Amino acid sequence: MAPIYSRIIATGSALPERAVSNADLEKIVDTSDEWIRTRTGIRQRHIAADGETTGDLAFLAAQRALEAAGVKASELDLIVLGTTTPDIIFPSTACLVQQRLGANGCAAFDVNAACSGFMYALGIADKFIKSGQSKKVLVIGAETLTRMVDWNERETCVLFGDGAGAVVLEASGEPGIYATCMHADGGYKELLWNPVGVSVGFRDEPNHGVRIKMAGREVFKVAVKTLDSLVDETLEAVGMHESDIDWLIPHQANLRIIEATAKRLQMPMDRVIVTVDQHANTSSGSVPLALDYAVRSGKVQRGQNLLLEAFGGGFTWASALLRY
Ligand code: UT7
Repeated sequence: MAPIYSRIIATGSALPERAVSNADLEKIVDTSDEWIRTRTGIRQRHIAADGETTGDLAFLAAQRALEAAGVKASELDLIVLGTTTPDIIFPSTACLVQQRLGANGCAAFDVNAACSGFMYALGIADKFIKSGQSKKVLVIGAETLTRMVDWNERETCVLFGDGAGAVVLEASGEPGIYATCMHADGGYKELLWNPVGVSVGFRDEPNHGVRIKMAGREVFKVAVKTLDSLVDETLEAVGMHESDIDWLIPHQANLRIIEATAKRLQMPMDRVIVTVDQHANTSSGSVPLALDYAVRSGKVQRGQNLLLEAFGGGFTWASALLRY
C-alpha cells in the first residue's frame, strides 16, 4: 500500500492587539530593555485583553488557517489543541473552539505538554492521518501564559507572551510530514512548573498561587543539550543531513538557545525563523506562530524541508521534519 502522509495545506495565527515593550516592563519591575534583549532576544510581547481567552485566540488562528486552506469546518474529522492555559477546566478548549467553528461531531481534545504542546499535537495528528483514521485535521497551539505570570517576579514575567497558531493537515500521497519525535522526562518537573491545581489544591495567595516557577539557568542548559540530540534523532529518523534542511522553525523561548541549535545544524541565522523578538515565549503558540509568519511573509516556499522543534516544562521535547 502506498504510504499516507500528512501535508500542511495552510497556516493561520492570532495575537492579542496589545503589544507591551521592554520599556513598558521597566516601569513595573526592576529590569531593563538591555538585559531582556541581550539575555533573551525579546523586544516585545502581546498580552491578552481582559476577558480575551486562549480559546478566542485559537478560534481566530483556526479560522485564518481554514480560510487559507479553503476547507470548511464541517470537513474536519479531528481537532487537536496544544495548551497549558485552557479557558476552563473542562470541556477542553478544543471542544470550545470546535463549537465556535461549527465543526460539531468530529473528535476534539487538548494536549498539555507545556511549550511542546503544539509539537505533540502535530505528532498525534500525524499518527491519526497515517493510520487512515483522519483525512482533514486542525492542529492548534494556543496560550494565554501571561495569565499565570507573577508580574512582581522579573526572572519570569519578562519572558512570556500570548498568542496562537494553527495548521490544517490533509491526508496525501505526497510528503508531507516525514517524521515526528516526542519525549518527556518528568524527573525535571521542578525546574519549570506551576505546582497548584484542581487535585493538589490552590493556595490562599494572589491569583490562587497560580504562577510559573522556573530555574532559568538550569532549564537553559538542559534545553540546549536536549535540542542538540533531538535534531540528530530527527535527521536520523528520516535519513537526512543538516544540509537537506531549508528552514529551522524552533520554539521561541530564547534567541541564544535558537542560535545554539542553528549552530549544531550548521545553519546560518538567515535560514532560521525568529519571532521571539516580537512574540516572546508563547509556549504552545510559539512554533505555529513562527510557521505562519514564515509562510505568510513568503520566506517558506512549497517543496522546502522544514525542521520544527520545541522544548518545555515536564520536561517535554518534540520535533517534526516535513516537506512544506
Ligand atoms: O519555553 C520553555 C523553556 N524555557 C526556556 O528555555 C528558558 C531558559 N532559560 C533562559 O532563557 C535564561 O536562563 C533566562 C533568560 C531565563 C535567564 O538568563 P540567564 O542568562 O540564565 O540569567 P540568570 O538567570 O543566570 O540571571 C543573571 C542575573 C541574575 O543576577 P545576579 O545573580 O547575577 O546578580 C538575575 O537576578 O540577571 C538577573 N536577572 C535580571 N536582571 C534584570 C534575572 N532576571 C532579570 C531581569 N532583569 N528581568
